[in-house]
Amino acid sequence: MNIILDVDTGYDDALAILLATRTPSVNVLGITCVAGNHYLDQIVTNTLKILDVAGAPAIPVAAGCLTPLMEVVRLPDRLHGGDGMADLGLPISPRSTVSFHAVELLRRLLTDAGQPVTIVALAPMTNLAVFLRMYPHLRHKIERIVIMGGAHITFGNTSPTAEFNIRCDPDAAHIILSSGLPITLYPLDPFRQVAVRQDEAEVMTHSASWPTQIAGRICASVMKVFKRDHAFIGDAGAVAVAIDPTRANIQRFPITVELSGSPATRGMTVIDRRNAYQRASLTEWWHTSAYECDVVTEVDANYYKAMFLAAL
Ligand code: BDR
Ligand code: CA
Repeated sequence: MNIILDVDTGYDDALAILLATRTPSVNVLGITCVAGNHYLDQIVTNTLKILDVAGAPAIPVAAGCLTPLMEVVRLPDRLHGGDGMADLGLPISPRSTVSFHAVELLRRLLTDAGQPVTIVALAPMTNLAVFLRMYPHLRHKIERIVIMGGAHITFGNTSPTAEFNIRCDPDAAHIILSSGLPITLYPLDPFRQVAVRQDEAEVMTHSASWPTQIAGRICASVMKVFKRDHAFIGDAGAVAVAIDPTRANIQRFPITVELSGSPATRGMTVIDRRNAYQRASLTEWWHTSAYECDVVTEVDANYYKAMFLAAL
């Protein structure tokens, strides 16, 4: 499976990169970075460091958009640590980025791809939206976009209604979710289901495998910040479902992104769960969105956690 990762590394993007690069059946063609969990330069630094931890081959990594399309960068609280990746004190990587922009890397990788490629979007979708606007003729090279973003039934993690990746750049999310491309949305609902327990993280931190040890330390750091006895593997769950969707409950729904200026609702993913009759009613109320996506509503958490741990 050929994939491109779009990341804002981030503790859980780090776990996702470890999973993707250490799964033998997955070929990571490239990684594009965007501002989100931290400013862009720190995101790039973290991404290169975690590739070292993974022992990954020379995967092209590109720095992308510095800010969302319409808003300023707003960092999350210290959930991801001061450096955005759990402050592990990892050495600076000898790797470097390609000399051109992430959007150009997407263009080159997709142009060269013999078969359509799956993009796994784990961050605000600024790079992807700019790419689609600049090179719409390459859209047929995208097989599917698997997005960690949004909230299905659960509440938001940034505003009461909005999930972080969508809230950072709702306009970019709107461009992608109304693109008509095949999309799988991995929202906060399954995101909050797959977790490493404290006792598991403790064992991991003593593992002889460096990637396992680092993943254990990342999970332990998250537990400390949240004062919890478990840590969600977050973005890594989206990668796991992209690799193997067989143990996920996936349902198709019309979707739209709320773009009004209200702080309580901007960036909310409005997923239309009404039945076909209700959706079709041509009243003065909202008809429905013309765009549908496959929403991961629930996952076999133990299965995907085992997949993650085995890959490490
Ligand atoms: C998402 O937001 C980021 O903080 C995480 O890396 C994840 O992609 C969760 O809302
Ligand atoms: Ca992320």
